[in-house]
Amino acid sequence: MSLKDAYRDLFPIGAAIAPMWAYKPEFDTLITSEFSSLTAENIMKPMMIMDHDATIASGDPVNTVQNFAETDKMLSWAKERGIRMRFHVLVWHGQTPWWFFKENWSDDKDAPDASPELMLKRMEAWIRDVMTHVNTSFPGVVYCWDVVNEAIEPEHGAPGLFRTKSPWYHILGEEFVPAAFRFARRYQAPDQQLYYNDFNSFQPDKQEAIIAVLKKLQAEDLVDGMGMQGHLQMQWPAIADFEKAARAYAALGLSLQVTELDIHCPTALENGQALLADRYGELFSTLVRMKRDGIDLRSVTFWGVTDRTSWLTGFRREGSSPMLFDDTLSPKAAYNAVIDAAR
Ligand code: XIL
Repeated sequence: MSLKDAYRDLFPIGAAIAPMWAYKPEFDTLITSEFSSLTAENIMKPMMIMDHDATIASGDPVNTVQNFAETDKMLSWAKERGIRMRFHVLVWHGQTPWWFFKENWSDDKDAPDASPELMLKRMEAWIRDVMTHVNTSFPGVVYCWDVVNEAIEPEHGAPGLFRTKSPWYHILGEEFVPAAFRFARRYQAPDQQLYYNDFNSFQPDKQEAIIAVLKKLQAEDLVDGMGMQGHLQMQWPAIADFEKAARAYAALGLSLQVTELDIHCPTALENGQALLADRYGELFSTLVRMKRDGIDLRSVTFWGVTDRTSWLTGFRREGSSPMLFDDTLSPKAAYNAVIDAAR
C-alpha cells in the first residue's frame, strides 16, 4: 500500500521537490510509487525562470526573456512518470527578482519603479509566456496554477489587509490580484484550475480578508480554488480550526487544496515522532471526513519528501523532522498514521 493508492478514491497526494533530490534513483523510485501530484519547490518561481542578462540584451521594456530549461526538465520527468503537476507560482512578492519591478530592468534597489501601466504589461507578458510555453510543450501535465501567492497579511494593517511590502502591491495596489487572474484566465488551458494560495489561511482575521478578495474574484469568475498552504506546528492551529476555515472556503463554491503541508516537529522534542504521527493522523482523518462530506478537496501536497529535504530546518532555525519519510527514505510512524486515516 502506498500513499497514492490509499488515497486513490479520495484525492491525489502530492510532494514538493527540488531537482537535486528528485532525479536521484532512490528518490525517483519513492516519488513514483508514493505520489500522484508534484510541485516544484523552487524552480518554477519567477526568479528561477526570468533571465536578467538576456532580458537586458533584448532591449524590450515589457517582455522578460525566460529560461525554461529546469522547468522543462521537471515537466518532462513528471510526464514520463504519469504524474501531474501544480504550477507554483506566477505572481508573488517572494523569489521574484527586484529588477522585474524596475525601470530599464535595473538591478539597483534604489532605481525608479516601473510605472503601473508598464507593470501591468509586464505581468501580462510574463503570465502569457509561461502559460503558453507550458501548455504548448507539455499539454495536460499541469492541472492547476498558483496564480497569486501570499497577497494578504493582516498584520500590516493596510486597507483590505494586503501585504503592503509586496512590490506588486506597492506599484499596482490591490488591483494586482484581479489583474493577475484576468490574464491567467485568458491564457490558461480549458481544463486547468486557477488558485489563490496563502499561509496561515486558518487565522480568523486573515481568513476574513482572503474571503473578501476571493468573493471579488468570483464576481468576475476569475478563481477556481483556494490553496491552504498548511505549514503547521505541533500545537497550532487546532485541527478543528483548520477544518472550520477549509469549510468556509469551500462554502464559497471553490475547490480546495492543501498545497504545502508540513508539521514542524523540533528534532529535540521528546517523543516527537509519536506525537507527529498523532497530529498527521488527526489532520488526515479530518480531511478524509470532509471529502466524504462532499467538500471539493482536490489534492493534498507535502512540502518536501524526507526530513532532510524539508526547508523547515533553515526557516525555523532549529532541527526539524516534519515529513513522512526519514533520511534513509524509510516511512516513519507518521506515514502509517496517514495511510490508516484513509481506511
Ligand atoms: C520555500 C522553499 O521551500 C525554500 O527552499 C526557499 O528557500 C523559500 O521558499 N511558501 C511558499 C513556498 O509559497 O514557495 C515557500 O517555499 C515556502 C512558503
